Amino acid sequence: MSSLGPAEEIDEAKERAHFQAVVNAFKYYKLCSLDRIHKSEKIISTLPQSHQRRLDKYKTYLTKFKKCLDVNNAVVHMIIKDVDTMFENVDHSMADAANSNGTNTESFGCNYNNCEITSQKQHKMQHDVEKVQSVLKNIVRDWSEDGAAEREQCYKPILDEIEARFPPDEYSNRAHVKVLVPGAGLGRLAWEIAARGYTCQGNEFSLFMLFASNFILNRCPEANAHTVHPWVHQYVNHATCEHQLRAAAFPDAPPAAPRAAAARRARFSIAAGDFLKVYTEPDEWNCVATCFFIDCAPNVIEFIERIYAILRPGGYWVNLGPLLYHYSDMPTENSIEPPYDILLEIITDVGFEILKERTGVKTKYAQNPNSMMQHEYDSVFFVCRKPYL
Ligand SMILES: C[S@@+](CC[C@H](N)C(=O)[O-])C[C@H]1O[C@@H](n2cnc3c(N)ncnc32)[C@H](O)[C@@H]1O
Repeated sequence: MSSLGPAEEIDEAKERAHFQAVVNAFKYYKLCSLDRIHKSEKIISTLPQSHQRRLDKYKTYLTKFKKCLDVNNAVVHMIIKDVDTMFENVDHSMADAANSNGTNTESFGCNYNNCEITSQKQHKMQHDVEKVQSVLKNIVRDWSEDGAAEREQCYKPILDEIEARFPPDEYSNRAHVKVLVPGAGLGRLAWEIAARGYTCQGNEFSLFMLFASNFILNRCPEANAHTVHPWVHQYVNHATCEHQLRAAAFPDAPPAAPRAAAARRARFSIAAGDFLKVYTEPDEWNCVATCFFIDCAPNVIEFIERIYAILRPGGYWVNLGPLLYHYSDMPTENSIEPPYDILLEIITDVGFEILKERTGVKTKYAQNPNSMMQHEYDSVFFVCRKPYL
C-alpha cells in the first residue's frame, strides 16, 4: 500500500507520465523523422515529370537519408535500453497507466496522412522527437572529434580557470576540491574536471540529456564505437547532400573505459533534478562552473543567489555563455531578462567579488560546421569569488 499523500501521488503520477513520454519520444524518433523524408518524396511525386527527372539524384539521397535514420535509431534504442531502472531501480514501465489521457505507446504515430491521434498530441510528439534529434547534436558537441572546436571555445576557458584557481602547489590533493557543474548537459565539462583530479558533480534535469549521458558515461567503454548522423534532420543550408549525410563517431574519449574508470568514477557523479531543488546545503562547494546555463532560469537572480549560498567562503564561480534567456518567449512563464550590465550589478549586490570579466567571447552551441548558416554567440566569461566573512 502506498504511504504517499494525494498531492505526492499526483506528483509521482505526473513524473511517471513525463518519464514515459520521453521514452516514447526516443521510441518514435525514427517514425517521426521518416515522415519528413516521406513528405519530400510525396511532393516530388506530384511535380511534373521533367522536374522529377531533374531531382533523380536528390531522390537517391533521400533514400540514403533513411539509412542514416536507421543508424541513429540504433543509437537511440541503445540509449533507452536500461532507462526503466536508471533512477533508484524504479520501474517506470507502468507509467502508461498513470497517464491521465490513457495514452498507450501504440497510439502515437507521426504519419501526416494516416494520423490516429489528435493534432495536439501529434504536435507534442513532434516537439519531443525534435528534442531527441537535438540530443544527437549534443552528442557531437560533447563526445565527438567534430565537437572539439566548440569544446575548445566553451570548456577550455573554464577548465584553465579552475586549474589556475586551485593550483597543484596549494592543492596537492585535488580530490579535496569539490566542483559543481549545474546544467551539465551530456556531462563532458564535468567529466573533464574530474579527469583533472577534482571531485566533480554534474547536475541536469532534462531526461533527454540524462538518458543519453547515462548511456555514454556508463556503457561506452570503447572509443568511437558508435556513429550518429546528426545533420540528417537539417533540410536547409547544405552545400552538398554529403554534408547532410555526414557521420560523427562517438565517444572520442570513452568515459566508461576500464583503465579510466576506477579513480575517476570515485570523483565523478551526475545528480538528476532541478538545480534549485537539489542544492540547498550552504557552503558546500569550492567551485561552481556554469557553461551556457544561467540563462536557463525564469528568474536568473534565483540561480545567482543559490550559487552564492552553496559556495564555501573563498569559493569561485566560473561562468561562460550568452544571455539567451530560454523562458523569455514562453507566454506561461514569468521570465525576467536583465542585460549583462544589470546582471553584473546584481552579482555584486548578492555579495560576489568579480575577479575577472571578458565579453565578446566567440562561442558556438551544437552547430553544424558545414552549414551555410552559423549561429555564433559573443558570450561573457567571468570569475567571481564569495568573500570570506
Ligand atoms: C544550454 S544547455 C548547456 C549544456 C552544457 N552545459 C553545455 O554547455 O553543453 C543547458 C542545460 O541546462 C539544463 N538545465 C536547465 N535548467 C536546469 C535546472 N534548473 N536544473 C538542472 N538543469 C537545468 C538543461 O536541461 C540543459 O541541458
